[in-house]
Order: sequence, then structure tokens, then C-alpha cells
Amino acid sequence: MGSDILPKAVKYENGQLIFLDQTKLPLELIYEKQETLEQVYNSIKTLKVRGAPAIGIAGAFGLLISMKNHINNSVDEFIKMLKSNGEYLISSRPTAVNLSWAVNRIIKKAESVEAHTSEELYKIIEQEAVYIFEEDKKICQNIGEYGQDLICDGMGILTHCNAGALAVSELGTALAPIYKALDNGKKFKVYADETRPLLQGARLTSYELYSAGVDVTLICDNMAAYAMSKGLINMVIVGCDRVAANGDTANKIGTMNVAILAKYFNIPFYVACPSSTYDNMTLTGKDIIIEERDKKEVTHFSSCQTAPENVNVLNPAFDVTPNELITGFITEYGIIKPPFIVNLEKILNNR
Ligand code: MRU
Repeated sequence: MGSDILPKAVKYENGQLIFLDQTKLPLELIYEKQETLEQVYNSIKTLKVRGAPAIGIAGAFGLLISMKNHINNSVDEFIKMLKSNGEYLISSRPTAVNLSWAVNRIIKKAESVEAHTSEELYKIIEQEAVYIFEEDKKICQNIGEYGQDLICDGMGILTHCNAGALAVSELGTALAPIYKALDNGKKFKVYADETRPLLQGARLTSYELYSAGVDVTLICDNMAAYAMSKGLINMVIVGCDRVAANGDTANKIGTMNVAILAKYFNIPFYVACPSSTYDNMTLTGKDIIIEERDKKEVTHFSSCQTAPENVNVLNPAFDVTPNELITGFITEYGIIKPPFIVNLEKILNNR
């Protein structure tokens, strides 16, 4: 299976930025051209483009295209605007560190080079955004290679949310080992949690795995314990949005439930993690800002109201899995085992 058959979340072609509108999946495949800073901000905020690495890439290109109208400004004015647009884009979603990481990398590049004109600077940051995109492709391939060693014939693998091709440049993080194992002819099953409230597991993960020919079974979130108790699950692999210095990991709400269940049933729990998701400035999970989303996502199922109008609602988009529940991190540099406080830091020397 070539990664070409998988859907692409972000495209950058001939200077044009295009996102696949993931809110319409799996029923409609609609690509939307992104032309303004506000449009990119809204696309990230409303999850048209989502998944930690994908919003990093989207942020880098989004920042770039927001500067198109400023190439006639002075270099100083260009950089000032770049910083303010970058700050605005970062504010669209607070939890995934990849967004600020990619946007700040573009800004740092612009500040560190000597450009005589803003037009020259535009070309330099365009190149940097393309590097971020291309690097992510290599990272996903490497995560896939290292992770597929963990997959054996006959296994059942549980995943939560969507950390596949739709969440990155191509292939995925948590799903990359699955695609590689499929390519290597391994026979296994994948169980996808539907992932309430926005159903990334049902709408996106089961869609992309099924389209690629993976033996995938969709389950409701509250069926994971049942599936584990029946011996259907031998390993869990999830993605992540931010990994703190001690290994505490933020990922889609419900991930911590799965990790606790995996511990109870003695099932290995792996987090697939590009090094850009590791944030050593955040010391523990307690310091990770958790995005709170609109209560309508919980009181409505698609556009249909399923709860009383004014009922109180809690809608955190992510939770933090304590490091002691994590067996290892599958990174582009190999599999990182505890003690995470020491071993995760080592990936910074490679990055
Ligand atoms: O709210 P989302 O859909 O952006 O949440 C996505 C996740 O939680 C993913 O598991 C995570 O970003 C990793 S994507 C490789």
C-alpha cells in the first residue's frame, strides 16, 4: 500500500494552500483553498484540519500565506506582522504543542536570516514551511518502521481518536505502524474507539483504515473494557498532542480511560510521538493547558439535539495520561522506554 492512496489533510501546490475539510468526512471529500489568516484560524479552530502534526503544518503554511499581502512592506514591518499573525494562529488551539512549535520555527527563521526585501523573506519562510512538511513525512515513515516491529500476526490493536494520515503530512503516527505492518503482510485486527464527542475514531480512523484495506472494527468508547476482557486487544497505540518532560501525555479525551483499562488488563500501552510533540518546557501533565470546547458538541449529535437545552456540560477536548501508565513512546528515533524523564530528553539531542 503506497501512502498515496491515503487521504491528504494538507496540500501545498503552486503556492496554494488547501485543506481537506475533515468535518465533512466520511460522507463528503471536500478540499478547501485557504486564502486568509482568519480562514486558516477558523479551519484549525473548527477542526476542518486537526491532529497535532497537521495543525503544525497548517499553521506554518497558514502563517506564510497570511504574509502574501505584506511583501511590499519593509523587512521590519514584515517581521512585526509575521509575529502578530503567528500569535493569532497559535491562539486557535492551545493543547497541541506542534502548532506553536511550527509557527515559532517560521518566525525564528525569518528573524535569523539576513534578507534585503520582504519578498526574499517570503521565499525563505516558504522554504521553511516546506521543510516542516517534508520532515514530517520522514518522521511518520520512521515511526511506522519502528512501531511495526511491535505488531505480530494475530494481534488485536486498539486505537483512540485519529492519529492517522488525516492528522499528519502522510501515513500517521499511531496508525503508521499499522500501515507498515499491513505492507509487510502481517495479519492483525484494529479496533477503533468511536471517540465522543466529535467521533474522530468513527468518522476518520475507521474511514482511513477501512479504505486502506486494514481489518478494522469500530467500537463505542464504552466497549473498550469489554473488548479487553474478551482478550481481543493485545496492544494499544495512540497519538498525542503534548508530552511533558516527565512523560505525562495529553491526547484526545478518553485516552486516559483506555490507559487505565490497559493497565488493569496488563496490555501494553504505546504513544506514537514525533519529537516535535515533546515539550520539555512543560514539566508535568498538570502544566498542560486543556482546551475546553463548545457545550453543543456534547448536547448535540451532529445537528440533532440529544440533551436538555440548558443542562450543564463539561467538554474538555483532551486528557492527560500519567506517565506510569505508558509502556513506551514510538518516536522517529526509536522506542523510548522509562525512565522517561531521562530518556525523552535524549531525543532533543537528535532533533
Ligand atoms: O481534536 P483533535 O481531533 O485535533 O485531536 C487529535 C488527537 O487527539 C490526536 O490523537 C493527536 O493530535 C495526535 S495526531 C497524530
